Amino acid sequence: MDSFLPSPDCDTISKTDNGQIDSHLIQKTNEGYREILPNLPRGKGWMTEHLVQYQGVWLTPNFALKGLMWVQDHFKPRSTDICLATFPKTGTTWLKALTFATVNRTRYGFTDHPLLTTVPHGCLPFLEACPKDLDGFPSPRLLSTHIPYTLLPNSMTVNQSCRFVYICRDPKDVLVSKWLFMNKLRPKELAPISLEEAFELFCQGISHYGPYWDHVLGYWKASLETPEKVLFLKYEELKEEPSVVVKRLGEFLGHPFSLEEVSKGVVEEIVKLCSFENLSNLEVNKSSVLKLSTQIIIDNRHFFRKGKVGDGKSYLTDEMIKRINEITSEKLLGSGLVFGS
Ligand code: A3P
Repeated sequence: MDSFLPSPDCDTISKTDNGQIDSHLIQKTNEGYREILPNLPRGKGWMTEHLVQYQGVWLTPNFALKGLMWVQDHFKPRSTDICLATFPKTGTTWLKALTFATVNRTRYGFTDHPLLTTVPHGCLPFLEACPKDLDGFPSPRLLSTHIPYTLLPNSMTVNQSCRFVYICRDPKDVLVSKWLFMNKLRPKELAPISLEEAFELFCQGISHYGPYWDHVLGYWKASLETPEKVLFLKYEELKEEPSVVVKRLGEFLGHPFSLEEVSKGVVEEIVKLCSFENLSNLEVNKSSVLKLSTQIIIDNRHFFRKGKVGDGKSYLTDEMIKRINEITSEKLLGSGLVFGS
């Protein structure tokens, strides 16, 4: 299949191909971006030199901030949209694969499935990459974003109210996964970030789309308020009982697995297709790249490292573990949410 990426280029927020967004409005967003950028608080970047803080969230100035502004100003949601929302390194790649395979299970066979030749990120559009041809997509659209729930436009959460699937993960594993990933993408001219530095930044909330805990809580609260609109998953639960979670996913998405499908082992086929072992060993995920913009090109293999629960702890000192656990308890206090399975 043709990848949905790389159509977008957020280096300039551009007019849609089909002209549905007024170029005058696009120009206004570009002007707004140029106006606010110099005055935004700056923090140390993990992959880029700096991150900027906008509406309480830390973003890369070029890609993520522009993408967020594009979504807030121009994205036209439909009530049938399904949006996969994640904080980076919590299981985005896996969730994309599982959702794509679940929704399209009658369309593709398991032996010639698009996921065998396309990285999961190439199977559905990423909103912050300002995809140009979204209006032309047939419903229901399968989309993805890293934008925190509270920063999404009302049109997505209230008026048209898309459905969201969110996945969270233990912060220690997120931190370590992100640190290793971002250092691989960090330009050679910038010195690598040490784990101690990454740890401090993460604890202060200064990481892409951070603070992490606020990101998680935004979707968690939305899932409690409108469970029919937001499905909240945990990486650890998915690891422990993938078939159970995939069945819940199918139910939520309006594609429940029939008894016949269950007895034929369709759920297990999906789990196997999307497993770390399978995806990470495919040629496309070992040797191809994902082009997010003219400047952000990522080797697909970087999306697959270990795929284990609890690996973060083997990199962190006891003191670091204690501190991050304390922050987590404090932030989640009274929310009813606990990390892990
Ligand atoms: P580790 O670095 O801990 O191995 P994201 O997809 O949000 O970028 O998250 C990446 C993390 O998910 C990495 O974690 C990666 O190895 C893991 N991952 C990728 N594909 C996976 C899969 N199919 N099953 C389980 N984990 C997966």
